[in-house]
Amino acid sequence: MTPHRRDILVSASALALMGLPSMASAQTKAETLDGRMRLDEDWKFAFGHLNDPAKDFGFSDGLRTFAKQGPDTGPVGRADFDDSKWREVQLPHDWAVELPFVPNPKAATLKPDDRGVTWDPAADHGYKPLGRDYPETSIGWYRRTIEWTAADKGKRIRIDFDGVFRNTIVIFNGYIVKQHDGGYVPFSVDLTDFLNTDGKPNVLAVRVDASQGEGWFYEGAGIYRHVWLVKHDPVHIVKDGVCVRARTDGTVEVTTTVKNDGDAGITIGVSAVVLGASAAKVDGLHLGAGDRGQITQTLQVTNPHLWSLEDPYLYQVLSGLVMDGHPHAKATTSFGFRDIRFDAEQGFFLNGKPVKLKGTCNHHDHAGVGSALPDALQYYRLKCLKEMGCNAYRTSHNPPTPELLDACDELGMLVIDETRMMTSSEEGLDQLRTMIMRDRNHPSVILWSIGNEEPQQGTDRGAVIARTMKRVCRELDPTRGITAAMDGGYGHGITEVLDVIGFNYRDDKIDDFHKSFPHIPIIGTETASTVATRGEYVRDPAKHIVPAYDTDAPWWANTAEGWWPHFDAKPYIAGGFIWTGFDYRGEPTPYPNWPSISSQFGALDTCGFPKDNYYYYRAWWRPEPLLHLFPHWNWQAGSTVSIWAYSNCDAVELFVNGKSLGKKDMAKDMHVEWGVPYQPGKITAFGYKGGKVVVKDTRETAGPAARVVLTADRTALSADGRDCAVIRAEVVDAKGRTVPKADNLIRFDVAGSASVIGVGNGNPNSHEADKASQRLAFNGLACAIVQTGKTAGQVTISATADGLIAGKVILKTA
Ligand code: GAL
Repeated sequence: MTPHRRDILVSASALALMGLPSMASAQTKAETLDGRMRLDEDWKFAFGHLNDPAKDFGFSDGLRTFAKQGPDTGPVGRADFDDSKWREVQLPHDWAVELPFVPNPKAATLKPDDRGVTWDPAADHGYKPLGRDYPETSIGWYRRTIEWTAADKGKRIRIDFDGVFRNTIVIFNGYIVKQHDGGYVPFSVDLTDFLNTDGKPNVLAVRVDASQGEGWFYEGAGIYRHVWLVKHDPVHIVKDGVCVRARTDGTVEVTTTVKNDGDAGITIGVSAVVLGASAAKVDGLHLGAGDRGQITQTLQVTNPHLWSLEDPYLYQVLSGLVMDGHPHAKATTSFGFRDIRFDAEQGFFLNGKPVKLKGTCNHHDHAGVGSALPDALQYYRLKCLKEMGCNAYRTSHNPPTPELLDACDELGMLVIDETRMMTSSEEGLDQLRTMIMRDRNHPSVILWSIGNEEPQQGTDRGAVIARTMKRVCRELDPTRGITAAMDGGYGHGITEVLDVIGFNYRDDKIDDFHKSFPHIPIIGTETASTVATRGEYVRDPAKHIVPAYDTDAPWWANTAEGWWPHFDAKPYIAGGFIWTGFDYRGEPTPYPNWPSISSQFGALDTCGFPKDNYYYYRAWWRPEPLLHLFPHWNWQAGSTVSIWAYSNCDAVELFVNGKSLGKKDMAKDMHVEWGVPYQPGKITAFGYKGGKVVVKDTRETAGPAARVVLTADRTALSADGRDCAVIRAEVVDAKGRTVPKADNLIRFDVAGSASVIGVGNGNPNSHEADKASQRLAFNGLACAIVQTGKTAGQVTISATADGLIAGKVILKTA
């Protein structure tokens, strides 16, 4: 069906009013910044002090900090403050990752718990010197100026922070203009009334206090997400003020919220169009001075291209304001047409088709950069997970950075979006509201999670709180249900408030729950937690090393084979989320104390290097034939080695130095294994389907380390000073075989407009610096994150190690 001719005329004129080309030529990807300017560069940074005003740049003697609303809250907010000794930083910035690892000085006084395990509170956040005991490294100050020119006269100036960890005080031209506690939700500050419009500098100072945590995992410290400067007319579309609801029949409901910050009433035109796909609508809206108004417009797209996991097709709504016949504000909003449904008997449906949720939970940090990830790294991580066969992501336990959701939309990944606090306190509801308003247009988001293992989950009070939270979710987004990750109280408390119940572990209770509550859909919000050290196959408790076979999980969790066969077989379980996709800093498990600084739960390590378990999931979560044979084949003479194969073939045959050890049938969702006396040489496995060999894998005894091989996840990058590549360094022998235990020190050098912004090796017990350009290989591998500069051209990265032939990889930046 083609749009009605009258609609086309409206469309063309509306687009012209917005200064845009007509429908036929408007197909190109819309400008997404909408007049927002990045404010990631030109910041200065220095440590303040938690207790001592003299070391906190004179900020606050405590008792008078908020006494007067005047332009002088201390020297640091003044234009003449000398910050020449402060360091230049580019956002996103996490100062915690720059700090050394420090053992807990009070470790000797810690007592074991009932199970005999001594938990060290300093371990939670990965042994970084943050908190009351570390006043010198717990407060960070950031400073920069904001540009204001005569052309901005009459505009409102706003600054948007995507996320700061945490307790932020924003001082502008000496005025305290904002205090914001939460470390994970965005916040904005209107600076207009405090602007210097007489040519004097406009100074922004931000004090960040990371002495208190919100989680039991590494959280980072500082302005670790993007910051934006927005200059808009007094009449404007408010932040997150466009809500798009699309149905698979092509109907698109666009609700636009507009505010008039001017001194007089006004009638404006509000327009909306699906770029390149619908006719536009323009409707009038009258707003008195100071009013906020809303308008809902219904657009129609013919034969909408659906958003799916295989084909994550996105559209953009372009919204505009028209005043006196002239275009004013515009905003672009990405969305997708897709239909989601949870069924208590048959699981989850996307666009009417059943989809088992093959999910991972993840925290937000990565090797080398802590919690300050360049956007490209979000895409890298999601690609790693997609390659594993993962189709769903739980943002445990907090709202993610917006770029993660953009990546999920663009790459095709379903999301459970989780708020940090399960509470209906004003702050809790505010955080929930902010998350939903920000994230509700993302087709990837399928559920709102209102909490994780909260103490009140099984109580009546919990139910009351959850009901209030649900009301907020429903008001802002009636299109998605709510869940919570429960580890007890099933059948009580919040159970019946949830639209989908989340089981954290406790798989043995699922069947009974389903019998008692057959109307409630079920997911495993946390399931397996195999702990494994990448590339290690012999347990060594003294060195905090766990073998990478799928054998070890904490008492509350399961191995991969312990959960997936059961979840896979039962249609009424919509799927599950392993804990975790990637190893993360903090919460060291299974060795909860120093020297361990990372968890070992990941299917991939902190760098994104796959552990063997990754291949279990890849075999059973993806359709292509796969065979993964492990361990390596470098052992002491006389050892008996347990050889495992992960495969989705019918049978696997193992050969040791050319001699068959026989074929083994592969049971669904399981592995096969052999115990083999070691002899140097080669092990090869063949995977059979329908009696034919379809895939093989080999491990060979490697000789001494001879060279470093470098590869990049991408070689064509933007010369925008933000893009980045993940460089993988592998130590191989003279014949190119991975040297499984190689621990050579690898030095990364960059020639061209780019730099190493962090290194890693996935060793959960390493105390080497992330912010460095060298790293020991750990079991043959290390990585560097290389960020581009702003000069286009060739970037050559080389990796040298004593006695080895250097590796090289070339990037092109444009
Ligand atoms: C869960 C918790 C997670 C993590 C995990 C470790 O109980 O929700 O945040 O702590 O245990 O196994």
